[in-house]
Amino acid sequence: MFVRHLTLQDFRSYESADLELTSGVTTFVGLNGQGKTNIVEALGYLASLSSHRVAQDAPLVRAGAGQAIVRAAVLRDGREQQLELEINPGRANRARLGRSPLTRPRDLLGKLRTVLFAPEDLALVKGDPSERRRFLDDLLVARQPRWAGARADYDKILKQRNALLKTARTAADRQAALATLPVWDSHLAKVGANLVYARLRLLRDLQPYLQLAYDEVSAGQSDARTSYKSSMYDELADQLAAGEVPDVGELEAGFAKTFEQQHRAEVERGQTLVGPHRDDVVLQLGSLPAKGYASHGESWSFALGLRIAAFQLLRHDLGTDPVLVLDDVFAELDAGRRRRLALMVADCEQVLITAAVGDDVPDSLTGRTFTVTLGQVKADDD
Ligand SMILES: Nc1ncnc2c1ncn2[C@@H]1O[C@H](COP(=O)(O)OP(=O)(O)OP(=O)(O)O)[C@@H](O)[C@H]1O
Ligand SMILES: [Mg+2]
Repeated sequence: MFVRHLTLQDFRSYESADLELTSGVTTFVGLNGQGKTNIVEALGYLASLSSHRVAQDAPLVRAGAGQAIVRAAVLRDGREQQLELEINPGRANRARLGRSPLTRPRDLLGKLRTVLFAPEDLALVKGDPSERRRFLDDLLVARQPRWAGARADYDKILKQRNALLKTARTAADRQAALATLPVWDSHLAKVGANLVYARLRLLRDLQPYLQLAYDEVSAGQSDARTSYKSSMYDELADQLAAGEVPDVGELEAGFAKTFEQQHRAEVERGQTLVGPHRDDVVLQLGSLPAKGYASHGESWSFALGLRIAAFQLLRHDLGTDPVLVLDDVFAELDAGRRRRLALMVADCEQVLITAAVGDDVPDSLTGRTFTVTLGQVKADDD
């Protein structure tokens, strides 16, 4: 698929922008702070309903404006669809597909797929577990949008269960306060088991692509791997870390057993200590964990390898290419890595690249160039 047209209104530094895009490679060049990343961030937001830079919506709306609008014409197999999202900080966002308003913005998911790589992705390797959980869950949703619903359900149940545990902690009659806990246990176990199962399957499917992508980027044979670090009781966690994928029923039973083991600790701390929200993915290079061991360049290649692997997996699953976005990547890479990355992305249906220095992007990636100056975008061939 590719984006043929992109419109921004009051998004970040743009009062308004209209971009006519083509398939193939497009490069946005401009000095620091001119608004290059803002463009691809808008596209990423339309695809995933979240920004790769901020957790809140307010910074996405141009200072002084009340709402932002992002609109795109997406072409897939010769069919064009108009996607529109209205970002209303503090209020519900609104989405349209073609002329029809959608009940929920979430219904937009799957209409545009992007894989975005940005400097922030170094946090996938060096950052908190929440970064890696987000990578997995976002990819789950990109693969199958229905997982967005499961994620939302899980968060709701988790909130309720935490509230209950918190109340019980200080309640005069703890037993009474915990009376409904078993109900929440079974809800959490059911939705949680499905999520963990989906993540395990995803990691298993991603593995071959990751290994290839890492080696291609780094021109080495480095055995880049992932292993799931679960909050379940030890024996089960060991199984999952070894790459086994039990069925959902076994995982659900695993929750019940772990809840039992953790009961005292959960009540004492007033929070849920088991579940996908406590899990992590260990990234490994050979026998060593990447976090704490990998060099800067290796960490960078690993993060890039994860994104390229995600792209390849989606390409394989969907039978169409997601839009590949490379934000500020080339400046960080040495000449060999630049060349190899250019080779890897040359056959993608649409690649959007941002660069402060145009010369950092290898010549082999000839495409259209836009110059970005102070929130104005202009095609060089205009
Ligand atoms: N909500 C907003 N309202 C107005 N301006 C904003 C808003 N959010 C960000 N900006 C401005 O947008 C600019 C940053 O844009 P962007 O991150 O796209 O730059 P860039 O061209 O990618 O720069 P670099 O090369 O440094 O990555 C900053 O000048 C910032 O002040
Ligand atoms: Mg930028």
